[in-house]
Amino acid sequence: MSKALINQIKNLTDKYKDENLQTRRHLHQHPELSFKEFQTSLFIQQKLTEYNIPFKNDYVKTGIVAHIEGNNPSKKVIALRADMDALPILEENTVDYCSVNKGVMHACGHDVHTTCLLGAANILNQLKNKFEGTIKLIFQPGEEKLPGGASLMIKEDALNNPNANAIIGQHVFPDLPAGKVGFRPGMYMASADEIYVTVKGKGGHAALPHKVIDPILIASQLVVTLQQLVSRRAKADIPTVLSFGKINSTGGATNVIPNEVKLEGTFRTMNEDWRAEAHTIMKSIAEQTAIAMGGECEFDIHKGYPFLKNDSTLTHHAMQAAKEFLGEENVVNLDLRMTAEDFSYYTQLIPGCFYRLGTGKSSGLHTPTFNIDEEALQTGVGMMAYLAIKELF
Ligand code: NI
Repeated sequence: MSKALINQIKNLTDKYKDENLQTRRHLHQHPELSFKEFQTSLFIQQKLTEYNIPFKNDYVKTGIVAHIEGNNPSKKVIALRADMDALPILEENTVDYCSVNKGVMHACGHDVHTTCLLGAANILNQLKNKFEGTIKLIFQPGEEKLPGGASLMIKEDALNNPNANAIIGQHVFPDLPAGKVGFRPGMYMASADEIYVTVKGKGGHAALPHKVIDPILIASQLVVTLQQLVSRRAKADIPTVLSFGKINSTGGATNVIPNEVKLEGTFRTMNEDWRAEAHTIMKSIAEQTAIAMGGECEFDIHKGYPFLKNDSTLTHHAMQAAKEFLGEENVVNLDLRMTAEDFSYYTQLIPGCFYRLGTGKSSGLHTPTFNIDEEALQTGVGMMAYLAIKELF
């Protein structure tokens, strides 16, 4: 059964190779910023209409949810997700499908994710008498911007009616050549919270420190003391990172101590209970250290995306299916990453599998010369279609 199905999917992927390539280039050429994906959304709706796949477009302004019903549609529901938004980057590639929206670029491959989901949808719709259950297609806006399109799609019930039993998503990965994919069961990507600290003291002449409350000394102490969180409070099996990327004072000079110092940083980890506990600990260390040194401190945390966990059973299944589809040698194990991704919101609610699609050597994601080896589209389209069907067996 699997062999015949794999051949059918590969034949259909070949048949629509050119169409999928055109889709990707069109999307790449017309990128739109987070939550403003209006033309992208219309383009997707046009394609779904062409493919005869019913959809609803009233999610988070530009989001779309579509369903492909196989035999016995209520048996099981598998959701496939693609993000649609681009980044505020001026593209420096010289290809003829370069961005025409100056200063906006698909530098994170969301054009590829959308193309692969459309391509897979077209194939799955033609094979719907081969599986039992329903495939839910989620085209989601705003992955690159808080609060994250995923969280808003969930609030607007994208996972319900019918309720998804599991969700699968993919992301481009320049570290792997086209034709390969990577998986990691269990914890994979981090939660990411922004930290904003204001240390308040009392400025004055740097030669007379007994007359001032030195916010620079307090801030320095805070940066060092807060690392206790990582070295003395975090459990060894929960990856944890605390980094400060910015320290600024308003005023100050070699001989002038300022009134105030501001710090900005990021806190990342892979356990939601520990994340909440760490927030309390950090705030308390910061406030008490400042008080002990005679000053004051405001410690604000802006919560970002939760950590991304790949369901172990689902991801092992998917890995096995990927080996059948691409060959053992083309499926690799991924390292965990402390970067974040809003697909994590789905994985907090239902079993999820977020895997990487090799797209070939390039400059990194989020750089002005990022691009892909377009052979990866074939893998991305076929892989998604096969993973969805396999989960419905
Ligand atoms: Ni991305």
